[in-house]
Amino acid sequence: MTRADAIPVVVLISGSGTNLQALIDACRGDFPAKIVAVISNRPDVRGLGRATDAGIPTAVIDHTEYDSREAFDTALAGMIDQFTPKLVVLAGFMRILTPGFVLHYLGKLLNIHPSLLPRYPGLNTHQRALDNGDRLHGASIHFVTTELDGGPVILQASVPVHPEDDADTLAARVLEQEHKIYPLAVRWFAEGRLTLDNETPLLDQKPVIEPLQLEAI
Ligand code: GRF
Repeated sequence: MTRADAIPVVVLISGSGTNLQALIDACRGDFPAKIVAVISNRPDVRGLGRATDAGIPTAVIDHTEYDSREAFDTALAGMIDQFTPKLVVLAGFMRILTPGFVLHYLGKLLNIHPSLLPRYPGLNTHQRALDNGDRLHGASIHFVTTELDGGPVILQASVPVHPEDDADTLAARVLEQEHKIYPLAVRWFAEGRLTLDNETPLLDQKPVIEPLQLEAI
């Protein structure tokens, strides 16, 4: 059931869409956001099936069909804006976005990244945490700014790294936490509790200087 005041959200994906699924599941309850479209840059990915199964409109903007990042981002923004979202959620969306795109959605563009930022921006985060002998790893939700994986972090969840871990077992442990923190951050945003003030996230009007930790909430 969708609340009358639920804000429209567009979710961007590139793959399996388990974070999308966590958001779809959250929206089935009393949730202040409604997913109005799921857009993928890759055809035939599992996440598109998840959206269709939930009755959510889908679109594919295939980045291989565009000559430049700018052309792709312009087409992507054109598609997103048809759904007039109040929030755009990157959920395993594996494209670097142009500054023009990011600025167009500044303050209403969230990303999830599988590391405790600022550690390990970019790819292969789990292997890098293992290679460094980290005892703690995790995931971060941040507002997207023009710096790749460098926007201000709102919320994190940590997991222990076990001696017998490989990148897959560690990724699975992190993913479980991702599925908790993304619906929570989207809820805060949709309730108007989470905003971006210049470069600083505000939760309930208070600056989030150090990322909030799920374990402490
Ligand atoms: C997640 O680990 C996310 O943090 C990263 O890519 C993975 C996507 O997983 N950006 P899914 O598509 O949500 O299952």
